[in-house]
Amino acid sequence: MAPVANETTAHADGRVGRRIENYTAFWQKDISKEDTQDTENRLSNYVDVINGYYDGATGLYEYGWGTSFHFSRYYPGEGFYQALARHEHYLAFKMNLKPGMRVLDVGCGIGGPAREIAQFADVQIVGLNNNEFQVGRARKLTKKAGLENQISYTVGDFMKLAEKFGENSFDAVYAIEATVHAPSWEGVYGEIQKVLKPGGVFGVYEWCMTDRWDPSIPEHKEVAHGIEIGNGIPEMRPLAKARQAILNVGFEIEHEEDLAERPDPIPWYYPLEGDISKAQTLWDVFTVWRMSNSGKFVTHHGLWLIEKLGIVPKGTWEVGETLKIAADALVKSGREKLFTPMYLVIARKPAPN
Ligand SMILES: C[S@@+](CC[C@H](N)C(=O)[O-])C[C@H]1O[C@@H](n2cnc3c(N)ncnc32)[C@H](O)[C@@H]1O
Repeated sequence: MAPVANETTAHADGRVGRRIENYTAFWQKDISKEDTQDTENRLSNYVDVINGYYDGATGLYEYGWGTSFHFSRYYPGEGFYQALARHEHYLAFKMNLKPGMRVLDVGCGIGGPAREIAQFADVQIVGLNNNEFQVGRARKLTKKAGLENQISYTVGDFMKLAEKFGENSFDAVYAIEATVHAPSWEGVYGEIQKVLKPGGVFGVYEWCMTDRWDPSIPEHKEVAHGIEIGNGIPEMRPLAKARQAILNVGFEIEHEEDLAERPDPIPWYYPLEGDISKAQTLWDVFTVWRMSNSGKFVTHHGLWLIEKLGIVPKGTWEVGETLKIAADALVKSGREKLFTPMYLVIARKPAPN
């Protein structure tokens, strides 16, 4: 990794030092001091909040998780990477993707899911992401995989899809754990609806607070706050609101399920628990170890050192610290079923009769 200056303009790799440093300033350290103005501020500055987070967190995600930045369910004995790929295949299967379709990946990360789905379903994919650094990584990894004729990437805001692509331009659109970052669900789903061809399909794994979540309970509010700050999310919202937004923008819901409600013996949040006895394969011991106390210790000090050496931008260590808050909040809310990262919805844009 090349050293990154702490400038306000972008470094050659797309990261901007100043916005990483500013990231945590969008939240009150003391949750009791958070008010609606803080949320409003994050919502109106969503581009800076999210890019600050991902400029700082992307390297850590790759180190700790891989190239697909999402959760999945697990079957006993199933390897971590196998489960991530299966989760992606499942979405493609439920969407009934067919060879040759032109598909948009909204909030594509560094392209892990796009590469997997392109090969699984023989589709052409455009990956859209507002983070320049991630798009650079996505292009590099896709070239290495020999998939550049099947997948292209573009930098852009998912709140402005029609402006970028024009209406009725995709056969299918999917979004994996990305649209939770939107300042409003109606906004992003409405844009997705516009760029889909009539009769086109939208598939999403959404992050939401479940019906058990009650923001009037301080502990519940605190857990949502932990998910927000630890994951670069301006505001966590309830599942019912996501569902309603999909309907409000004119989609017809064909299938929906909160996959976190399945009675799985191995829960979706297990890799974050840092309990290596739960690793399903020998290789996964390393993945789970990174989230254990000793693994966190190594990352904490290693990151501090490489930041001091100027190898990663200033502020990266602090963003790394918020990832620990995220892990605790996600495990707690997962155990209590207050949160899901896998509310699956398959919806269709109506075709004229
Ligand atoms: C948790 S990551 C998921 C990435 C990818 N879907 C995956 O599963 O690997 C969320 C992604 O949404 C992107 N994102 C957030 N806000 C965005 C916006 N306004 N426009 C486009 N992409 C956005 C982030 O940059 C990040 O790549």
